[in-house]
Amino acid sequence: MSDSDNIASGSTTGDNTVGAANDVAVDIRHVVKRFHTDRGEDVTALNDINFAIRRHDFITVVGRSGCGKTTLLNMLAGFEKPTEGEILIGGEKIAGPSPKRGVVFQKPQLYPWLNVQRNVEFGMKVQGVDAASRARTAKEYLHIVGLSDAADRKPYELSGGMQQRAQIARVLAADPDLVLMDEPFGALDALTRENLQVELRRIWQEKRKTVFFITHSVDEAIFLGTRVIVLSSHPGTVLMDIPVDIPRDPERPEDIEAVRSTREYRELVTRVDAAIHQ
Ligand SMILES: Nc1ncnc2c1ncn2[C@@H]1O[C@H](COP(=O)(O)OP(=O)(O)O)[C@@H](O)[C@H]1O
Ligand SMILES: [Mg+2]
Repeated sequence: MSDSDNIASGSTTGDNTVGAANDVAVDIRHVVKRFHTDRGEDVTALNDINFAIRRHDFITVVGRSGCGKTTLLNMLAGFEKPTEGEILIGGEKIAGPSPKRGVVFQKPQLYPWLNVQRNVEFGMKVQGVDAASRARTAKEYLHIVGLSDAADRKPYELSGGMQQRAQIARVLAADPDLVLMDEPFGALDALTRENLQVELRRIWQEKRKTVFFITHSVDEAIFLGTRVIVLSSHPGTVLMDIPVDIPRDPERPEDIEAVRSTREYRELVTRVDAAIHQ
């Protein structure tokens, strides 16, 4: 049985409550985003975007550079507002940034003056979580991302891959309802990238997170996602919104090579590639 079958059967633990009692976490309705450029022109970055994110979805978004991926993420994060249409979370329009939506940026964002442990505790501290619980949760996430031994180090003492792990731990430890990730592995070498892909998918599964993940790697989108959304360019519209149904070994669902060797994976790559290049 595939992951998306699991989702469809509603086998969530119910601890990742996003909004209302139904399982729609985010509803994006007829969203248009226009920018007014310095040269006095209006640019339509996104046009008539419609889709819903359900609880425990792992949505991956692919599309060419400049097609509006970051703009969409910025609106989900509450950094930008739609020009037309609306984005609802639990039935309410997004009013601005919220700790309920954690953002993982392409470049690791860590507080340089805090060690890794304190960086990971930061969001919980802001939320008023007591020191003992903070320490316990930070320890757990540092273990999950393989940074237990680096807890006392400052960010500048870490490699790029380790900083990105720390950022992911920092965002996830604050327990956001929705995790927004903007090409988080884009700057990493291939091996580190694969390791983090495997870890992220395991965390998503274990912690029942809801993830919105931007990438321009078709392989990454299909390996990670439960649903792949392909955006067109100029203006960005949804070209394709398809479930990822790849049979996975229940013992080792994150085995990348096993996933890549399936017929379903190869067919999806062909379809998504064709959509991007059309
Ligand atoms: N603040 C802005 N002002 C004007 N144009 C913008 C602004 N932000 C993004 N754009 C334009 O919107 C389009 C989508 O950009 P972006 O969302 O960054 O694309 P992507 O993340 O897919 O590469 C691009 O044409 C970009 O130039
Ligand atoms: Mg971008």
